[in-house]
Amino acid sequence: MAVTVVIGSQWGDEGKGKIVDLLSDEVAVVARYQGGANAGHTICWGDQTFILHLVPSGIFHEGVSCVIGNGVVIDPVALMEEIGMIRELGYEVEGRLFISHNAHLIMPYHKKIEQAREQARDAGAIGTTGRGIGPSYVDKFARTGIRVVDLLDRDVLRRKLKASIDEKNAILKSVYGAEELDVEQIIEEYVEFDKRIDPYVTDTAAYLNQTLREGKHVLAEGAQGSLLDVDFGTYPFVTSSHPTAGGACTGLGIPPTAVDRVIGIVKAYCTRVGNGPFPTELENETGERLREVGAEFGATTGRPRRCGWLDLVALRYTAMINGFTELAITKLDVLTGIDPIEICTRYRYHDKEQTRFPAEVQTLQTVEPIFDTMPGWTEDITGAQEFGDLPKTAQRYLQFVADFMGVGISMISTGPKRSQTINGQRSKISV
Ligand code: GDP
Ligand code: IMO
Ligand code: MG
Repeated sequence: MAVTVVIGSQWGDEGKGKIVDLLSDEVAVVARYQGGANAGHTICWGDQTFILHLVPSGIFHEGVSCVIGNGVVIDPVALMEEIGMIRELGYEVEGRLFISHNAHLIMPYHKKIEQAREQARDAGAIGTTGRGIGPSYVDKFARTGIRVVDLLDRDVLRRKLKASIDEKNAILKSVYGAEELDVEQIIEEYVEFDKRIDPYVTDTAAYLNQTLREGKHVLAEGAQGSLLDVDFGTYPFVTSSHPTAGGACTGLGIPPTAVDRVIGIVKAYCTRVGNGPFPTELENETGERLREVGAEFGATTGRPRRCGWLDLVALRYTAMINGFTELAITKLDVLTGIDPIEICTRYRYHDKEQTRFPAEVQTLQTVEPIFDTMPGWTEDITGAQEFGDLPKTAQRYLQFVADFMGVGISMISTGPKRSQTINGQRSKISV
């Protein structure tokens, strides 16, 4: 049995889409296990760029099947749009895309409640993507959610929707003073999805386990990043799911014993979209430069991403939680021309140095990052095909990261395109 899990090791947007697309060549199935259309995974080949929000990043490989697992929350409107886009590009989706009957749905009232809640939080707003993710997971755990399987039975759907919308309208009106939703209009809109979604719906846990029994490989594609995990991230400035490795098992119905590779995707610097602590953030020219050169604007919301130096305190913590067996370093090219490069190796808190990543957001907001300084490079590295092609200073930077984290590097990305990658043996950095 062999499952590889691909995980964002920071606050998301590490380049998971590119790496999953590349690794898809080696597997039978690519499966998303959590999150929803809050994700924006970018894939580039030739001059074309595609952004996927729900469909796994293996979809452009004809021989690969794609699964949207039970742990994902699905916005049927966004899903149908995405399927339409993929079809228009000439890729067949039916027979290759499988959607879990147990996955929960995002409803219009989830987005509305989220919007009202964020407005009410004012300065304490999380800065969500506005895709209704949090309220949908709340309903899932409150056991009032509506699942994909409910779409397939109009009577059940009508009954559940009516009950749910009545409750949500009461909340919207009395708690937030917001406009109520039209029950009949939503019911009409959603009953339409039953025929459209039907060809894709199946028991994906059974399908994945059968695939593994046949000796085939599965790639589990995480969304968001470990520091946005609802338990292990910078709570409350997190998403409402488990992007970390354990989420792959619960979000797909595969046993932990089936996982044999856990790849941590590490951006060579650090970014964050939305609010919350970010100790190594650079609110200066270097931060601006990283944003411009790295094109750091949200793939889902278009918001400018906050940028800063690599934070090895945070990364060592996410390596512990996920048990990374290897790292893929992305966007190394964006550091070209920056000299020196700083890298955070510890925090100062109340005049004491520490290497522990604090659990409490108040502490994380006040820690002062302490940096090691490393020389940069000026050579264009986007064409490098081997580790040895990289300037010595870039090699040192990578080795420093691997040594500090205690995890080897198996891939180095030096540009958004598939070809701009140093892969396999050629990138091997061990610790
Ligand atoms: P994801 O959410 O983790 O899949 O990442 P996003 O797609 O949101 O953001 C990553 C961005 O960086 C995308 O625009 C990618 O095309 C781009 N990208 C990925 N790898 C590299 C790289 O090595 N160098 C550069 N310059 N861009 C990259
Ligand atoms: P990918 O998969 C970066 C952030 C939001 C906000 C917080 C909660 O592309 O890496 P949510 O809408 O999930 O309730 O918002 O999480 N966030 C992301 N940041 N990349 C993402 O996904 C994100 N998905 C959510 O900005 O701070
Ligand atoms: Mg993204």
